[in-house]
Amino acid sequence: MKITFLLNGETVELADVPPTATLLDWLREERGLTGTKEGCNEGDCGACTVMVTDRDGAKALNACILFLPQLHGKAVRTVEGASGPDGQMHPVQQAMVEHHGSQCGFCTPGFVMSMVAAHANGATDHDTQLAGNLCRCTGYAPIIRAAESVEAQPVPVWVKDKPAAAGAASPMLPRSGDELAEVYAAHPDATLVAGATDVGLWVTKQLRDLDPVIFLTGCDDLKAIEVGKDEVRIGAMADMNRLGAAMADLHPSYAEMIRRYASVQVRHAATVGGNIANGSPIGDNPPALIALGATLHLRKGDDRRSLPLEAFFLDYGKQDRAPGEFVEAVSFARQDDRLKCYKLSKRFDQDISAVCGCFNIVVAEGAVAEARIAFGGMAGIPKRAANVEAALVGRPWTYEAVHAALPAFGADFTPMTDMRASAEYRLETARAMLERYFAEDQGEITNVLEVSA
Ligand SMILES: Cc1cc2nc3c(=O)[nH]c(=O)nc-3n(C[C@H](O)[C@H](O)[C@H](O)COP(=O)(O)OP(=O)(O)OC[C@H]3O[C@@H](n4cnc5c(N)ncnc54)[C@H](O)[C@@H]3O)c2cc1C
Ligand code: FES
Ligand code: FES
Repeated sequence: MKITFLLNGETVELADVPPTATLLDWLREERGLTGTKEGCNEGDCGACTVMVTDRDGAKALNACILFLPQLHGKAVRTVEGASGPDGQMHPVQQAMVEHHGSQCGFCTPGFVMSMVAAHANGATDHDTQLAGNLCRCTGYAPIIRAAESVEAQPVPVWVKDKPAAAGAASPMLPRSGDELAEVYAAHPDATLVAGATDVGLWVTKQLRDLDPVIFLTGCDDLKAIEVGKDEVRIGAMADMNRLGAAMADLHPSYAEMIRRYASVQVRHAATVGGNIANGSPIGDNPPALIALGATLHLRKGDDRRSLPLEAFFLDYGKQDRAPGEFVEAVSFARQDDRLKCYKLSKRFDQDISAVCGCFNIVVAEGAVAEARIAFGGMAGIPKRAANVEAALVGRPWTYEAVHAALPAFGADFTPMTDMRASAEYRLETARAMLERYFAEDQGEITNVLEVSA
């Protein structure tokens, strides 16, 4: 595969790129750019953070789970390119020195690149911007102070990358849904790579050889999020940060859950299509979308079909998707916001859910008119709580009715015990989430983060 991109302002053209060569390995082993560090090699620590600029703007991304073909037509800036051509430090580098933001220094290049990207975007929610960067020794306060101190400083011209204009690279890098449909129909055995936040780990952790691989990164039409009068349609390649922004007004609780989905770096890469297609029982989007009554749109060649999202998940590891068929989009009807998403994980930020409960209960004239309740982490697939829904619909919207519906969770779910939570805890907490939904609906504050003195 032949690809072109900018590296620290210089054009790089590579021929015969192995499809699963990671940017991190290539930078360190082929280019000697060892400022970008390898910590976890699975997207968790941020030591390998680089800034990638594409048509949507500058983004912090983890180089360890970024395959080289995903960079075609984009611009990459590593920590070596954070300082200016005459050696002048980037304002965030200077601030890290002044605020004592580094001790052993291993995490520092990753922090600096997250801060360079956040600064380029004018982002000042530093806790969120830096949640994906781990530091063992300095502590975060000096680093946050460094980030705050440069908020008003101008973005240096040398980090304002303009992505390389690049033409077609290979049929395995399609540039639209139509091209993808054609090449996937011809290679139904290929692995699709969207954001690579799952597939990256198959390579770095499971050491799998993948070939052939089709990269969806150039399919711009699949990135669209259309908020129409009656319907919201989310293209399969919409990433989590863009989805979160789109949900902020429509369904703020969904947006808030996405803010706790991994880190900024992972959210820039991870797509809604990948989060559905991987069939994970603990993916965060499926329960929210099922609760919203979403429809999944699949395409194979020129044939398209749609099905309720919950019907896509057949069994653990088994989805209703034929060879050569891909997720094109997911859509749901515009509706008054009644959605609440409760993500329970061992750590608040940057953690996979133990249980994710999403509730969409419509009340009319004091009674439950409709209830859509879906869970992740409670079964081998994302699953609706059909018995709980039935126990609620038609009843008065009172605590007594909610309480009476709680035993139905036992009929809906037989959760498992694993390292994230025990079966008993999962069931207990799922019941508590329904009680919480009711309490919040009555105006009670239940989230300790919302309590102020
Ligand atoms: C550090 C870290 C933290 C994470 N935290 C969370 C979290 O908090 N919540 C959560 O839900 N997940 C989390 N994940 C998992 C991961 O981010 C998601 O599953 C992600 O949405 C996958 O999307 P992707 O675009 O990266 O998919 P990829 O890795 O590119 O692909 C995943 C699977 O989907 C297939 N695929 C991709 N796109 C399509 C398509 N359009 N049609 C058909 N098949 C397709 C691929 O072939 C592959 O089988 C985390 C991952 C990491 C590394
Ligand atoms: S090395 Fe830890 S996120 Fe990449
Ligand atoms: S300075 Fe040592 S890990 Fe951050």
